[in-house]
Amino acid sequence: MGVRPLVKFAQIGSLYMQTYISLAQIDAITQEIKNRIKIQPVVGIILGSGLNGLADSVHQAVHIPYSDLTDFPVSTVHGHIGRFVIGELEGRPALVMQGRIHYYEGYTMGQTTLPVRVMQRLGIQSMIVTNAAGGVHPDFAPGDVMLITDQLNLMGMSGLNPLMGPNLDEIGPRFPDMSQPYDRTYGDLARKAAAENGITLREGVYAGLSGPSFESPADLRFLRLIGADAVGMSTVPEVIVARHGNMRVLGLSGISNKANLDGSTITTHEEVIEAGKVITPKVEAIVRGILKDM
Ligand code: HPA
Repeated sequence: MGVRPLVKFAQIGSLYMQTYISLAQIDAITQEIKNRIKIQPVVGIILGSGLNGLADSVHQAVHIPYSDLTDFPVSTVHGHIGRFVIGELEGRPALVMQGRIHYYEGYTMGQTTLPVRVMQRLGIQSMIVTNAAGGVHPDFAPGDVMLITDQLNLMGMSGLNPLMGPNLDEIGPRFPDMSQPYDRTYGDLARKAAAENGITLREGVYAGLSGPSFESPADLRFLRLIGADAVGMSTVPEVIVARHGNMRVLGLSGISNKANLDGSTITTHEEVIEAGKVITPKVEAIVRGILKDM
């Protein structure tokens, strides 16, 4: 099929925004990674804002900065280091993303989800995705961890679906089912791991918005009304691409702040990073438990 056309219309640093990523490009990046590792990762883990710490416990780690890879988007957000850490976690060969790519950084949906495509071409079939999120459910408090049971694709509803454009038939179908974005068996493993570690695990629906502005009180009341329990600026596109490629997904949100439904408090990125320090050990315990049982 050859390389699909490059659409160049804006530049972030030295990288062009590219609407559609070809399989040839994905495979070239995959090969660059393969050339630097000796193991075959079986699980991909995306670390959200303030949750970098988990990557420190990867054994025999090979570090690959995103900037080393051809045409790979780099993380521009404070709190996101921007590299792959590949090695063993709980005895499992894992590829950990220390820092993710967000749509609001100016990348296209294709670029935002390119890491998930690379995971798929590396042969990874399971993905654990974590994020920092605002708690919309009235009972949620900063420091809580929520198992994501379903998602609201608000970005997609406004036309920002990562699967728009030519379908990569070699990877998945034009119209993928989305009835179970998050794997139920993995959810059970997370509940078990949380219980074993004395961690209260919240559960709920994650609403994905593009950001980067936080929500207004009216936005948040609307989100609550439509069934959101947590809100954030990532995850949903990555999970859609993962499911398109038939990966099994586990999602965990670290609740970094309480949604401010009446406008009485403000939300800051510093608060999100700070809450990560409380959340990281909990997420780490749950992820370790899941990896053991996966
Ligand atoms: N809203 C959106 N994204 C977030 C929030 C929030 O309150 N907290 C952390 N990420």
